[in-house]
Amino acid sequence: MIVFKKAQALHNYLEKIASKNVSIGFVPTMGALHKGHIELINRAKQQCNFVVCSIFINPAQFNNKTDFEKYPVTIENDILLLEENETDVLFLPSVNEIYPEGTNVLQHYNLGYLENILEALYRPGHFQGVCNVVDHLLNIVKPQKVFFGQKDYQQTLVVKVLMQHFHPRIKMIVEETMRENDGLAMSSRNMRLSNSARKKATAIYQALQFIKQNIPNKNLDELKHEAASIIINNGFSKIDYVEICDAESLLPVNDLHQHKNLIALAAAFIDDVRLIDNLFIN
Ligand code: PAF
Repeated sequence: MIVFKKAQALHNYLEKIASKNVSIGFVPTMGALHKGHIELINRAKQQCNFVVCSIFINPAQFNNKTDFEKYPVTIENDILLLEENETDVLFLPSVNEIYPEGTNVLQHYNLGYLENILEALYRPGHFQGVCNVVDHLLNIVKPQKVFFGQKDYQQTLVVKVLMQHFHPRIKMIVEETMRENDGLAMSSRNMRLSNSARKKATAIYQALQFIKQNIPNKNLDELKHEAASIIINNGFSKIDYVEICDAESLLPVNDLHQHKNLIALAAAFIDDVRLIDNLFIN
């Protein structure tokens, strides 16, 4: 695996690779890699001839300073994992390399209503930060395909909007959320949980499953209310939202029976760690 720290050097190198008709798959990450990331790398390997992974903890997408400061960093282990899984290139830029003019002068993207619902309400500026870095990374790497996980469902819709406008020729692939044996969605932030919080954290998935299983028997308010109780009664300290939305638009629904595909989503805090998860409900 070749490690690049400079955007221009990586860009030049990948231009040469692409000119040989080699397809490039790209997996952008913030490091602290887990099996979910490795699954994305493996999917990229199956579908493309050359795989690039980036590790960059993007300061522009953290609305909470402590979350940024405490974001897990496991770079040596990440490099080992990427090498074991035959990643061709790792891009490991500094903040200055990505934001030479600093993070106060960000580009603004029109994300429409996606910036006024769910995650966007609780994490102001988060998706603008995501768009800035993803746009920048896609311009550097210029892959044929880029791979994301479904756990950050709203992010996948936001990036879809970004890509329709600015990168229409790149294909976006969204892979199913990988889960631990007890159902907890894999996430780098899980590394921050104490042992006891880790055991309780599965409640967020149980709450989403409760919604899925009880859709035929309960009304919307009961489903959301009882799912929230499952989360709180199992040791979470605060819930940002438990919502049932149309899976395509992500708009919260008022009537469960008027939508073909639904998705249940939740965001809640345990041990001061904010976890999110979602589950499709057909
Ligand atoms: O999903 C993530 O890890 C990040 O939001 C991403 C897409 C790498 C942008 O920083």
